[in-house]
Amino acid sequence: MYYPDELVEEVRMKSDIVDVISGYVKIQKKGSSYFGLCPFHNEKSPSFSVSPGKQMYYCFGCGAGGNVFTFVMEYENYSFPEAVKLLADRAGINLPEAEYNEEARRKESQRARLLEVNKEAAKYFFYQLRSERGQAGYQYLRKRQLTDETIRKFGLGFSNVTSDDLVKYLKSKGYEDKLIQEAGLASFDEKYGMHDKFWNRVMFPIQDINHRVIGFGGRVMGDAKPKYLNSPETMIFDKSRNLYGLNFARTARTNNIILCEGYMDVIAMHQAGFTQAVASLGTAFTPGQANLLRRYVSEVILAYDSDGAGVTAALRAIGILKEVGLTGKVLNLEPYKDPDEFMKNLGREAFEERIRQAENSFFFELRMLQRDFDLNDPESKTRFHREIAKKLCGFSEEVERENYIEAVAEKYHIGFENLRNLVLSYAAQTGLAVPASRPKSGIQSRPDPEENKRKPQKLLLTWLVEEPAAYQKIKKYISPSDFTEDLYKKVAEKLFEELEEGTLNPAAIISLFSDEEEQRKVAGLFNTKLQELSTKAEQEKAFHDIVVAVKRNSLDYFSRQLGTDVSALNQVIEGKKALEELSKTHISLN
Ligand code: CTP
Ligand code: MN
Repeated sequence: MYYPDELVEEVRMKSDIVDVISGYVKIQKKGSSYFGLCPFHNEKSPSFSVSPGKQMYYCFGCGAGGNVFTFVMEYENYSFPEAVKLLADRAGINLPEAEYNEEARRKESQRARLLEVNKEAAKYFFYQLRSERGQAGYQYLRKRQLTDETIRKFGLGFSNVTSDDLVKYLKSKGYEDKLIQEAGLASFDEKYGMHDKFWNRVMFPIQDINHRVIGFGGRVMGDAKPKYLNSPETMIFDKSRNLYGLNFARTARTNNIILCEGYMDVIAMHQAGFTQAVASLGTAFTPGQANLLRRYVSEVILAYDSDGAGVTAALRAIGILKEVGLTGKVLNLEPYKDPDEFMKNLGREAFEERIRQAENSFFFELRMLQRDFDLNDPESKTRFHREIAKKLCGFSEEVERENYIEAVAEKYHIGFENLRNLVLSYAAQTGLAVPASRPKSGIQSRPDPEENKRKPQKLLLTWLVEEPAAYQKIKKYISPSDFTEDLYKKVAEKLFEELEEGTLNPAAIISLFSDEEEQRKVAGLFNTKLQELSTKAEQEKAFHDIVVAVKRNSLDYFSRQLGTDVSALNQVIEGKKALEELSKTHISLN
């Protein structure tokens, strides 16, 4: 962290969260909180809440949440220091200049160093593209009809023909060999020493949602192989949890995201004004990426290549989208191969039209399925109808299933009743399939043993924030070490300290974490949905159950550590005793 904690806290105290958020989002008072439409995902009824008491916001729909700094970071795509700066200016607080002093630099984690070396490399490639030696790269991009503005927006660059240019440059800037290698920018071998990973390629920096460079894709300018070379996964580059172009797409404010296969496709679409386009990173689309998209939109339009591989990839992606509750549609690019070629030939209006005509993903699946059957042969046709019926069983909600049966019956000229009976008979055979229901909120309904362990811990933290008085009742049984997730434990340590001193300040706890994803998680911990319980007896029972569950989980956890961790034995003995006592104790709340 670049500013002293006390200063950060002063800025936060002088930036009332309701005031700040009102400047961005229309919110209305309802009970003790304010509610409005969530700016981080698309919704029709308000599930975005701002609590003046806790000085936090939380969206029950998508799980976005945090304190006033988190909000500015998410909304403005700012880093933590940038958000502090914006709010300090707003509140009229002067920040010291010495933002990046030696001391802070030394403390920077490996993560930050990797980000730095990547940024430096991106700057280098960017500069090369504009130099004499980079002309081949620049001409290549221009030939592919990218404007100077687009080239700048995406920070495109060039890696020289010589094989250790970048290494030399980075070393001159003080980066050591080890870091350069760990970033995947160079490798070492006995014969040649340190040499660049990328050479003679146009370079596509890959950015995270906060515009930080986390890796690169490099394309050859001709037909050499491999066409693209990508950075390896590193501590900052997780290919399954980032998407190319999402740093821009997340603020496109459209109600859909266009998902495609290639870097060039994304760029061509953005250049034509479709700034909601993203692509996966040279690997298949993953559930992690689908979840990321769910934070921003409810509909994803697939613009995959129209060849066989593209169709297979689209079918896979449809399954993944369905799993996380996103609506999928498929764009028809025929007669062109990919969005880039389509745009070049038919232009933005034709593309707009294709978006309007995008096909419902279920119908797309059926159309692809149909290719395996001969509808002129009654035998084959029957088998096709059976397959359709089986697929229709996948809709667990009756209204939706009926609607699809009706639509499919009409489209494929099958009698509605016949098809419906066929569906019901399959449903009966398989014990009525109840697959992928659509989670209406951010909460997945599938039972997850890890989540079952975490849930009581989250509930307890929320409860203590909502009713600080309960702390006195449980401090005898529960300590921060009973929280078995690292993040939860850190939060509990601070929270318990504050509760002990009577200075509860949950929004300040969030500022202890500078990573947006961590802030979001911490906000989630303080905003778990507590069951609405009317009577005091019910509440006390629920609270007792939560405390016992947390303690039991902790006991299990430390029992497993026995033999490897010397302190575990004490924890186990203490845990057993506490559980025994809890079983005889009534915790009263008032
Ligand atoms: N890709 C890769 N490695 C390869 C080929 C492809 O990582 N050897 C990834 C890249 O992320 C690429 C995407 O797969 O953007 C799609 O590949 P492809 O359709 O072959 O390339 P395009 O993006 O269409 O690139 P171009 O238009 O420049 O041919
Ligand atoms: Mn292409």
